[in-house]
Amino acid sequence: MTGELSPIDKAKFVAAKRAVDFIEDGMRVGLGTGSTAAWMVRCLGELVREDGLKISGVPTSTRTAELARQVGINVLTLDEAKWLDVTIDGADEFDADLNLIKGGGGALLQEKIVATASDQMIVIADVAKEVANLGAFPLPIEVIPFGWQTTKALVEEMLISLDVLGRDASLRMNGDAPFVTDEGNHILDLHLNRIANPRQLALVVNQIPGVVENGLFIDICDVVVIGHGDGKVEVRDINAGTVEEDVIDFVESDNLFADI
Ligand code: 5RP
Repeated sequence: MTGELSPIDKAKFVAAKRAVDFIEDGMRVGLGTGSTAAWMVRCLGELVREDGLKISGVPTSTRTAELARQVGINVLTLDEAKWLDVTIDGADEFDADLNLIKGGGGALLQEKIVATASDQMIVIADVAKEVANLGAFPLPIEVIPFGWQTTKALVEEMLISLDVLGRDASLRMNGDAPFVTDEGNHILDLHLNRIANPRQLALVVNQIPGVVENGLFIDICDVVVIGHGDGKVEVRDINAGTVEEDVIDFVESDNLFADI
């Protein structure tokens, strides 16, 4: 069964599998969105069903909420949980300071709110997500539908004064219609190629009326768990300054792949 997984999926799986070791009984856990986060939700569900792990999960999207319920995790809203012990989520890019680009899956707003309301954020990623400089992945920003074209023009104008290598913004589509987020907003993807000062960009873009939030996560992530296609995982803790390596055995988790 595991032989059917591509190396990239194996890398995502082992990162997710290693990350759930951080979860203990009684924790309130933010559940990220995306393919790597979906592995993590499945791994947590297995621990809940088979080992009796007692946790509550706060999902960051309707699709994660649906999966969490399916695998047996007790789901709470953020307002019910109020504050979380830890959030585990994927990322589109991370740099050496564990600053991130997120929002490839369009869930950046809930993801940022949930991660910020957590004592700790753990990012799970395949090794290809590590970059020297953020920006090769188009930066998603969530904008309200009203006047989105004006907002786009203001964003492009703002980019002229910033140190980036590209300045085009495109409206994310879902087939023939604009993509709509869980909050009913649209996404502009900024094709910047390289962001010299992510902290500055994150602050400035949020000042534009119509921009709800951006996909730069600055000083939010504490730990990154990096998965490799051969089962190797690396755990980097930015606060402790530690790096640990492990190898994850695929066989013991065979039942997780049963319905893939
Ligand atoms: C969703 C996200 C995801 O975490 C990010 O896009 C990574 O996704 P994947 O794990 O599928 O590569 O930010 O909004």
